[in-house]
Amino acid sequence: MNIGIIGTGRVGSALAQRWRALGHDILFGARNPNSEAAKAALAQVSGARIGSLRDAATFGEVVLIAVPGIAVPDAVRACGSLRGKIVIDATNWFGERPEASAPSVAEEIARLAPGARVVKCFNTTGTGNMLDPRYRAQNADMFLCGDDADAKAVVHALASGIGFDVIDVGPLSAAALLEHLAQLWVHLAYRQGLGPNIAWKLLRR
Ligand SMILES: NC(=O)c1ccc[n+]([C@@H]2O[C@H](COP(=O)([O-])OP(=O)(O)OC[C@H]3O[C@@H](n4cnc5c(N)ncnc54)[C@H](OP(=O)(O)O)[C@@H]3O)[C@@H](O)[C@H]2O)c1
Repeated sequence: MNIGIIGTGRVGSALAQRWRALGHDILFGARNPNSEAAKAALAQVSGARIGSLRDAATFGEVVLIAVPGIAVPDAVRACGSLRGKIVIDATNWFGERPEASAPSVAEEIARLAPGARVVKCFNTTGTGNMLDPRYRAQNADMFLCGDDADAKAVVHALASGIGFDVIDVGPLSAAALLEHLAQLWVHLAYRQGLGPNIAWKLLRR
């Protein structure tokens, strides 16, 4: 599968490494493809290529958005049309939102990119877990939500393919829950001192 990755930071780089190892074709999209950060990300993923944000969006059957939440509107606009694409929103917003009633970032992407099949996923855990989701005898959980069942099935496979147990949280309107869950993960890891080797697990009986 062709995957365009918008952002060459920690999340973009981690998921690119894992998906490339599964045989997917990766094209990173960067504001400056010649920056040191962009070159470093590219060097970690053998066979990957890099271009503009629009290049990556055009290339990808799946397009991963992995930029800071505050940068999402600019990045999505720079992608050009995302109509028909499966767009994975891995982003989070930290700090004050511009409007108290602002929707989730995922719903904002859906608004900015008409026709995009947006799935929120990969935002609720750290990149260490994306690189290795195994915890002794268990896999870490990964939550996703979205309104397009076929798109969710593809993203489900991309998450389970790298070792997560995947939980479908429902429609895209549930994305705010996942964005808050991400804040709890960060709070526990970095403010409560648990560190980044923690992961979510839903128990059932
Ligand atoms: N780090 C984690 O463990 C983690 C886990 C889950 C979710 N997330 C979320 O995932 C997103 C990415 O996190 P990260 O840790 O990968 O961030 P990061 O390492 O800081 O990388 C951010 C990337 O976004 C790019 N970027 C920033 N502003 C942009 C713009 N206006 N247009 C295009 N690209 C832009 C940066 O490019 P430049 O080099 O050009 O600045 C960089 O490649 C965030 O929303 C974060 O909250 C992070």
